[in-house]
Order: sequence, then C-alpha cells, then structure tokens
Amino acid sequence: MTQNHHDADRQFSLHPYTHLENHQKQDPFVITRGDGVYVYDDHNNRLLEGVSGLWCTSLGFSEQRLIDAAMKQLQTLPYSHLFAHRSMLPAIELSQKLVEHAPEGIGKAFLVNSGSEAVDAAIKFAWYYQNARGKKNKKTFIARKRAYHGVTVAAGSLTGLPYAQDGFDLPAIPVIHVNTPHAYREAHDGETDEAFAKRLAEELEATILEAGADTIAAFIAEPVMGAGGVLLPPADYFDRVQAILKKHDILFIADEVICGFGRTGEWWGCDTYNIKPDMITSAKQLSSAYQPIGAVLVSNQMYDAFEAYSSELGMFGTGNTYGGHPVASAVALETLKIYEERDLVDMVKQRSPHFLERLQALQNHPLVGDARGVGLIGAIELVKDKDTKEQFEPSEKMNAKVVAAAKERGLVVRATPGDSVAFCPPLIINDDEIDELFDAMSDALAAVHSA
Ligand SMILES: Cc1ncc(COP(=O)(O)O)c(C=O)c1O
Repeated sequence: MTQNHHDADRQFSLHPYTHLENHQKQDPFVITRGDGVYVYDDHNNRLLEGVSGLWCTSLGFSEQRLIDAAMKQLQTLPYSHLFAHRSMLPAIELSQKLVEHAPEGIGKAFLVNSGSEAVDAAIKFAWYYQNARGKKNKKTFIARKRAYHGVTVAAGSLTGLPYAQDGFDLPAIPVIHVNTPHAYREAHDGETDEAFAKRLAEELEATILEAGADTIAAFIAEPVMGAGGVLLPPADYFDRVQAILKKHDILFIADEVICGFGRTGEWWGCDTYNIKPDMITSAKQLSSAYQPIGAVLVSNQMYDAFEAYSSELGMFGTGNTYGGHPVASAVALETLKIYEERDLVDMVKQRSPHFLERLQALQNHPLVGDARGVGLIGAIELVKDKDTKEQFEPSEKMNAKVVAAAKERGLVVRATPGDSVAFCPPLIINDDEIDELFDAMSDALAAVHSA
C-alpha cells in the first residue's frame, strides 16, 4: 500500500516548493495523522511538529472544539458569501472579533482564503486608497530582501527571496527591496543595534527620496521575518522606519501571517514592536490552520477614503467566492474564542522563557553561529567558523543535513535561508515537549558535526 501511494504521488502530484527532479528519486514524506504536537508518517513514526506544519497549527492537531465548530457550521449553512450586501453570522462575528483585537485605528476586516490572498488584497487596497485621494502616482511598494509575502503574482513580487521568484518572471509589480534587518550578518563590525537600525532607516529614506516619495504607495514588513530565516528587528528599527514613512506619506502594511495570534508573545507582532499599521495581513494561526482563511485588517482612515470613493466608482469591485466562507469563519471564530479563554498572550509568555533558554543553549554548539528567537519562534544559523562567521558552501547543504538528522530523531524542523534552521512549535507545546524538541536538535547537530 505504502509503495503504491508513493508511486502515485510521484506520478500525479506537482509539489509546491519541491525539487522536482529529486522528488522522482525519493519517497515522499507522507503524513497520515496528528495528535497534540505530534504527527505520524505512513510508517507510523511519531514526529514532534517543530514548525507547526507551515508555522500555522497553533493549537496542535487534535483540538476537538475546532472539529465540532466545522461540523456544526457544515450542518447549518455550508456555504454563503459576502458579495452585494449579503452577509452571514460566522463572518460577521469573526470580523467583529478581529477588529476588537486589532491595534488602535483598525476598523474593518476583509476575509480571504490564504496569506498570499491577504497580501494581494492589501496591495490592491493600497493602490485603491492612493487613487481615492488623488495620489495616482503612488504605485511602488517597498519590501525587504529575504521577506516572505506569498506566491501569487503581486504578493510574490513583494517576497524578497530569489527561490520564490526565479523562473516565474517575478517581480511583476513595481517594488524596491531594501536591506534586511539581520544584525548578525548585516551589521558592520562593532556596530551597535541602535547604530545598525539608524543606518537601515537612513538607507530606507535615501531609497524613498531617490524614487520620489510621491511614487511610493506602501512599505510592507513582517514584524519578525519568518520564512527568510526568523530575523528579528534590531531595537528602534520599527520606530525609525515608521517615522520616515509618516514623513513621506507612505502606508505601513504589517504582514502578520506568521506573527499574528501570539507567536511573538503578544497578540500581534505589531504589539511586540510598537508598530501602528495602516493594514494587517493575517492567516495561518487565525484558524490554527484547521480551515484555509486569511484576513486583511484595514484602518478607519483607509476605509473612510474607500467609502467616499463609492460615489465616483460605485461598488468596491473586489472579492473571492470563498472569502469569509462560513465553515472557515466558524472555525476561525472558535479559534479566537479559545485564545481568549486560555489567555493566548499569557500562554505564550509562560512557555517562551524555557523555549528561548533551550534555544540560546544551542549557541554553544560548534556549528551554531547565532541562535535567535522571541515568543515561541526561533532559529539557529550554522557556520563553519564561529569567530569569523564564515559560512559553509551552499553545495554542502548543512541546514538540510541537520533537518534530515532531526527527522531521524523524531523531530520536524525547517531549513530556511542563510543556512538556518527554524523552530515554530504549536503554541500548546509544554515544557517536556520543548525539552524533547531541543534534545533531538542537539543530537542532530552532534551527529552532523561528527559525520
Ligand atoms: C509572512 C507571510 N506572508 C504571506 C504568506 C503567504 O501565505 P500563504 O502560504 O497562506 O499564501 C506567508 C506564508 O508562509 C508568510 O509567512
């Protein structure tokens, strides 16, 4: 049976983010079931899910309340939509709850099906807003190198990772990628965090002035860059960036697709880093990934401009068949209720110190140059020489070797750019499971080092 479905997978599935030629030469990693923070493969091996799938299953794999919420909604109203003044209870209640939990100034929620769709919608909303107030030249976006904002044509253009763009003719919309706030690699020798943040902010302003502030629609940033390698902003960075954006009348889109809902130890990454966004894009932990759903949260100021624009353009001409899907909305609503009842922020704050302590301890390993994290997200960066920070040749694929060694020890973690390995366990992980995660990681590092 196993071999049959492995053959069928190779024959019929076109896999995302997969080396297609290699996929034909190896067996797929088939997950068959989940339980708490664990998943099982088709050989019945149990593995600790150290990245919550794709940074998303915050409540683990067996939250009965989410299953019940989906069943109940399927039995009541399996489908309806939000077009042309129609509405439905799960989407109304979810939008209300999202706005209630959003940072000050956010007034509306627009429901979509994924993180990429959320970013695509935010891009359109930025253009729409600038057009609505007569700033018709404000078309260009500023993103950061190593950012991840999704894969659709517009969102994928803002992503700053060559592997997600090469061969696909991206970027396809006007975007400028500025430097990455990654002190370990990008700060000059002896440069303090503050000086590094100041330099990045000055570079951002120079970029804006060179392009012309009247051509820049919005700046987009993940509070903590996730898929790019879990890169934490230096102190002051976002304060300085926001001051410059304000000065030049540029919108701030906070891409909270990974950071949102407790991951960094506050409800939003914006709370952790004192960001006052014009829009928030979210998905993933919004429903603990039990249903595909995303949301764009929009400021009152932007919404007022949209509404005023109706008198000229008529309807707000955008939306998806499944945007606000009742089953996805009901599951997301139940997820948010669970976060409220269990006090999401407190839950992460309780677990984070042990997680970060074990993460930092990996820094003592000869292969680990940097260990960084916040809340319940972190990464290690592998180096050949800790003193000089010299990296391994990319062809050595060191982080892939560590990820493979971890898998042999019952742990799923993820290789991320810059020879890093990322950790982002379900928020329900307990201290013993955190120990299990880092014990397996230490063993994996030792095995790769001695090979
Ligand atoms: C910050 C960020 N934005 C957008 C996306 C795209 O989300 P999706 O894969 O749901 O389209 C991701 C996915 O990892 C992400 O991490």
